[in-house]
Amino acid sequence: MSIIKIEDIAFVRFAAPDLDEMRSFLTQFGLDCFDGQGDRLYAKGRDGAPFVHSTQHGDPAFRGLGLRVQSVQDLQLLAAAEGVAVKDFAAPGGGKVVRLTDPDGVSVEVVARQTFDAPQPLAEDIPRNSAAGRPRQRAAVRLAGGPAHVIRLGHCVLNVSDFQMSERWYKQCFGFITSDEIEARPGTAMGAFMRCDRGDLPTDHHTLFLAQLPSGKGFNHAAFEVASFDDLMLGHNHLKSAKRAPAWGVGRHILGSQIFDYWKDPWGHELEHWTDGDLFSAADGSNKATVQDLLAVQWGPPHPMFAGKFAPSPNVVGFIMMLSVRIKRLFRRSPQGATA
Ligand SMILES: [Fe+2]
Repeated sequence: MSIIKIEDIAFVRFAAPDLDEMRSFLTQFGLDCFDGQGDRLYAKGRDGAPFVHSTQHGDPAFRGLGLRVQSVQDLQLLAAAEGVAVKDFAAPGGGKVVRLTDPDGVSVEVVARQTFDAPQPLAEDIPRNSAAGRPRQRAAVRLAGGPAHVIRLGHCVLNVSDFQMSERWYKQCFGFITSDEIEARPGTAMGAFMRCDRGDLPTDHHTLFLAQLPSGKGFNHAAFEVASFDDLMLGHNHLKSAKRAPAWGVGRHILGSQIFDYWKDPWGHELEHWTDGDLFSAADGSNKATVQDLLAVQWGPPHPMFAGKFAPSPNVVGFIMMLSVRIKRLFRRSPQGATA
């Protein structure tokens, strides 16, 4: 039983030395930027959320994530359990906040009662013709080029130092449900895609993905839902013509099924465009999956790790991940209480 259940992810925070350059990138990425107080840049999507991305002036860094709960009462429960206070949230949209730190020292701000704007209207979804059905008749497809239309922040991926420890913390605090647990080898979990517990309401396959990788802890990526597949491709062309740095894509994931497209911001932090992801309710349960399932695609280019001439096989990568996880556990269990 968790302390509370979160509704969704709310925002991600970064620091960067050049806010104008960040604004230029985020605008090309399809976010709507605006200035905040005290050398801070905010950006929002089209779902009415007051902001989904925040940048403070400073050395480039990931500065944490925000999660949204349904009520201030949830914040009070969380604050009491964690021995902290509910405070006013001095950010666009206002509301209340509880500030926590996860087991790896990542700032987690839990917010409630933010003021939302009305969602911006979406372009009409154009019917797609296929061999199985031809709903678009006597009408042409004509698309306007430009940035993708980012609707909302969908998930964040964190590389963690100890998957079991972080998983326990996030589940106990926020009620996450595992959608797919990734095993480096049978019996050795190294990560999990986790969704919010919204009861019967189907929700994104993952809002948070925790991964224990040999590379150590840190920010992995944040992912933003765009309007449609065409919109994602138009956004891809726009970022490519702006000579931004691609990271991986376009392709379709196996776990979560999203069509994805990863880009790097000017300081190397990865942001993803995605569309057409799976939705599951609380009753849909949990699965186990392999590193191959995690990194392979249904279509699209291979993961960059597997793209080179001397690329390792997914089997070898899984073996290295398994060793890394097991060595870590060994240190954790040592009588000296050594921490790795
Ligand atoms: Fe992602």
